[in-house]
Amino acid sequence: MMDRGDAMDYRRVLVIGGSGFIGASLAERLVETNREVIVPTRRALRATHLRPLPNVEICTADIHNDGELEKLVARCDAVVNLVGILHGSTAEPYGPEFAAAHVSLPRRIAAACARHGVRRFIHISALGVADDGHSGPSMYLRSKAAGEQAVREAPGIDWTILRPSVIFGPKDKLMNTFATLQRFAPVVPLARAQTRLQPVYVGDVAQAIVASLENRATIGHCYELAGPQAFTLAKLFALAGGWAGRTAPVLPLPDGLGLLQAAALEFAPGPTIMSRDNFHSLAIDNVATGPIAPELGIDPTPLAAIVPGYLGRPERG
Ligand SMILES: NC(=O)c1ccc[n+]([C@@H]2O[C@H](COP(=O)([O-])OP(=O)(O)OC[C@H]3O[C@@H](n4cnc5c(N)ncnc54)[C@H](OP(=O)(O)O)[C@@H]3O)[C@@H](O)[C@H]2O)c1
Repeated sequence: MMDRGDAMDYRRVLVIGGSGFIGASLAERLVETNREVIVPTRRALRATHLRPLPNVEICTADIHNDGELEKLVARCDAVVNLVGILHGSTAEPYGPEFAAAHVSLPRRIAAACARHGVRRFIHISALGVADDGHSGPSMYLRSKAAGEQAVREAPGIDWTILRPSVIFGPKDKLMNTFATLQRFAPVVPLARAQTRLQPVYVGDVAQAIVASLENRATIGHCYELAGPQAFTLAKLFALAGGWAGRTAPVLPLPDGLGLLQAAALEFAPGPTIMSRDNFHSLAIDNVATGPIAPELGIDPTPLAAIVPGYLGRPERG
């Protein structure tokens, strides 16, 4: 079957999971490059922020239903998969929610792409995922590893896998949560305070996805995406407080207490800000093995260039 992507330069891109944080930046970049974007969502209300963009079609769909997924894929020249979850029920090596979102879904997307001759598939994974396709300290990382493996092994597709570190940008969870916690608490107990992360800007992640689409040299490769500098969690916490205008002292927790805190937060009412699985993910540093690959053409944006602008105040001192 003809590669429809080759013929049409990936003019119409299906962005699965495009209603979320990265999806908003990616949709903007795709529209800027004169592409049409289709964003399926489970609830159309989740994607209303995309409505002002021209050439973005939001459609309500159940992507876990093969028939619905096939119909969407058949309308496109390339597919980007942004679906990811941070929490799910506990099991070995991972629970059913992680299995469905991180393993079955990319496998089914790849199969649908192959069936419809939509060869180009960009899959977003995560920094810290093991290359062996199964190991890792958390269900999140183990299921992401298995999802990568499913994509690599899928016949009939031209895949690229991107592994971002934790991502910052105006709507991020990490820096905004750190700033909010310090607004009210006199002292903040912090688990895994010495774990190192290398935050990457959401705009750079979106740009890396577009660059992958536009550069066939990226086919069959897996790329790490990280910012110019690594920080401990404690340092990121202090920076967020400083930029937001109120810092609270950190109380670093030993691992036993950190796990207890994560369990308490996991079962607390309201949105989950931390789970035991997140605690396990932080058992390893989340830093890149080197600079971003030159074929992606990204000069990574420093944290200090962006975060003070949305947390409220420029850094002092
Ligand atoms: N944000 C980060 O710091 C970060 C770091 C490393 C890797 N990543 C990875 O990058 C990808 C995108 O991240 P993001 O921050 O943009 O995520 P996000 O804001 O949570 O958006 C993901 C989207 O996926 C859809 N989704 C979630 N669970 C689903 C499920 N079970 N079935 C079907 N659809 C589901 C949701 O769409 P609807 O609710 O509209 O259906 C949601 O808008 C994920 O794979 C994530 O693991 C993110």
